[in-house]
Amino acid sequence: MAGHEHRHRNSRIETSSKGDSAAPCVFTVARARLDAPPGERYRPAVMPLVNVAEYESRARDIAEGSTLDYYDGGSNDEITLRENAAAFSRITLYPRVFRGVGQRDTRTTVLGMPTPMPIMVAPVALIGMLHPDGEVPAVRAASKAGSIVTLSTFSVTPIEDVVAAAAGPVWFQLYIYKDRSASEALIKRVEAAGCGALELTADAPILGRRERDVRNNFSLPEGLWAPNLTADGALPLPESAGGGGSPFAAAFDMLVDPNLTWDDIAWLTSVSQLPVLVKGVVRADDAIHAIDAGAAGVIVSNHGGRQLDTAPAAIDALGRVAEAVGDRGEVIVDGGIRRGADVLKAIALGASAVQVGRPIVWGLVVDGEQGVGDVLRLLRDELDLAMALTGCRSIDEITADLLSPR
Ligand SMILES: Cc1cc2nc3c(=O)[nH]c(=O)nc-3n(C[C@H](O)[C@H](O)[C@H](O)COP(=O)(O)O)c2cc1C
Repeated sequence: MAGHEHRHRNSRIETSSKGDSAAPCVFTVARARLDAPPGERYRPAVMPLVNVAEYESRARDIAEGSTLDYYDGGSNDEITLRENAAAFSRITLYPRVFRGVGQRDTRTTVLGMPTPMPIMVAPVALIGMLHPDGEVPAVRAASKAGSIVTLSTFSVTPIEDVVAAAAGPVWFQLYIYKDRSASEALIKRVEAAGCGALELTADAPILGRRERDVRNNFSLPEGLWAPNLTADGALPLPESAGGGGSPFAAAFDMLVDPNLTWDDIAWLTSVSQLPVLVKGVVRADDAIHAIDAGAAGVIVSNHGGRQLDTAPAAIDALGRVAEAVGDRGEVIVDGGIRRGADVLKAIALGASAVQVGRPIVWGLVVDGEQGVGDVLRLLRDELDLAMALTGCRSIDEITADLLSPR
């Protein structure tokens, strides 16, 4: 364990301060440093952050330069990235009135697991590079705030340590490797660690072309320890980029099998005891394939606009998928959720829960563990308010007629 920590510390992204320009309070904020201890990165008294968008811009002030490009970026022209969020603002809510909304309850169940709110944390590769303690602070904060968290295969903290630090369920995001026995060994380890489900990523047979990463020659920091990539944590790293992509993309391509078919999903559900959710589905026919192959459900997602550019906004794809799946499986959605009302819209369109990715990154950059908790509490409070204002006392009462009234 000490060895893991040592390697991880070496791999952390370093940022520099912007120097001492004389300054109104906004520059005080801009001088804050990512490598300062959490709590010292900014002073809420200077300028309280009241929504996720403000966490986003504060995170950019703190991290500066290209540090956040890997996290914030999408593929090609970033059309899908922008559409994910923009599509929510095109959906109109028709509130019900006089529904006695003095008491509201955001509790629900996902895959039969009770959870205090339908807002989960999406797998975000390498988020642990943004904190000296790796993925632990984000996971701990998220589960304390009531989120089910899915850990990315590409994380820097061993899954066993993440589960031990969490205050609630942890799931694991999986890629199937060219070497199936390596995948199977990893799955056994994930099961033994106590994870509750697998999210099998389907939309990344090879990595999308993220031009910010190409421009920055984004590579994995030297000495990176990716302890959940394989059962023994070994990381086969190519020296340089192949085919004009980034070295990170080349590493991905070495490991992950681009030849998967639905038969491989049947293989996965046969070797694992855990429920499998197929992540990265935007078509009803694919959702049906997933359920027929033994998946417990699907995650409607375009990988946060990082894979196929001009793929539909996730929220625009949700309704048809949810209708096709019906009560045969779970339907979760992610991509562009930045407001509690977005969560409500997703549930009205048939999702049982949503996941958020980048907002967790921004919370972590702004204020470490505290920042992640704050972002999730903001979203939960906004969901609660949106429920009150649409006449919903419970998650069950968030129904499709809020979008097109009778
Ligand atoms: C920096 C970053 C890394 C990601 N890494 C993974 C990953 O390893 N596996 C995966 O299935 N999805 C990954 N995703 C996609 C997220 O799980 C999720 O689908 C997406 O972030 C949701 O969109 P949002 O960021 O707008 O909330 C990543 C997203 C980001 C932003």
